[in-house]
Amino acid sequence: MANQNSRHGQSTPASRTFVSDTLVVVNFKTYEEAHGASAVELARIMEGLETDARLVAAVSPLDLAQVVQAAPNLEVWCQHMDPIGFGSNTGWINPETAIQWGASGTLINHAEHKVSLEHVAMLLDQVPEGFQVCACAADTDEARALAALVPTYVAVEPPELIGGDVSVTSADPGVVSSTAEAVKETNDDVGVLCGAGVKTGADVAMAVELGTSGVLLASGVTKSSDQAAALTNLVSLL
Ligand code: G3P
Repeated sequence: MANQNSRHGQSTPASRTFVSDTLVVVNFKTYEEAHGASAVELARIMEGLETDARLVAAVSPLDLAQVVQAAPNLEVWCQHMDPIGFGSNTGWINPETAIQWGASGTLINHAEHKVSLEHVAMLLDQVPEGFQVCACAADTDEARALAALVPTYVAVEPPELIGGDVSVTSADPGVVSSTAEAVKETNDDVGVLCGAGVKTGADVAMAVELGTSGVLLASGVTKSSDQAAALTNLVSLL
C-alpha cells in the first residue's frame, strides 16, 4: 500500500508522512556508529528532530526494515540498488524487496559504489513513479550525464573531499554552482544536492545559496560524539 507525498510525490507506506523543505540526506555508509542497533538509534534521533528540513536516512539494506519499524515517520532510503527482479541474482539488491520493507528512495552511483550509466538508466526504468533516486556524481560533467537520465536528484561529491574536514561548499564552491546550473540546463525537474565534508549549518546554508536543494553527508553526523547536536547544528540556519 503506498500513498503520494504531495510535495515530493514519493511512494511511501500509507501510514508515513514526511515534512519537506531543504533536503538533508544522512548516508549511514557502513560506519559502526550507524549500523545495527546504532542505525536504529540514529534514525530515532533524526525522526525526533524538530525542523522544517526534510531529513532522510540512507541505510544499509541489512538495517532497512529495523530502521523503518523503529522510526516510521522518517524517510528512509537505500544506499544502492540493482536493476534486477526476483530470481537468480545472488547478492544483488532487489528494489521491490527494499520497497516492501519501506524504502522510499535510494542513492545510486555513489563514489564508493560506482555503476555504469546503463545501470542507473535501468534502475530508473524499474522503480515505481515517485520513488526517489539520487544519482551521485564526481563532477559537473558526470552530473550532466546523469541528469539526462532524469533521476529525482543528482548529488555532486568530489571524491577527494569525501570524509574530510573541509566542506565542498568552502573547498570548491564552483563545482557546486556549476553543477546546479548544468543540471537545471539539462532538465529543470532534476534536483541538485552537494556533499563531501559537510558538517555545519553554515555549510548547508551555503549549499542552498549555491543553488542546491540540500546536502548529502555522512561523517559529520555518524562520527560525531553527539549525533543529535550535529544534526541540530546542520539544520540550525534553515
Ligand atoms: O554520501 C555522503 C558522502 O559521500 C560524504 O561523506 O563524510 O564527507 O560527509 P562525508
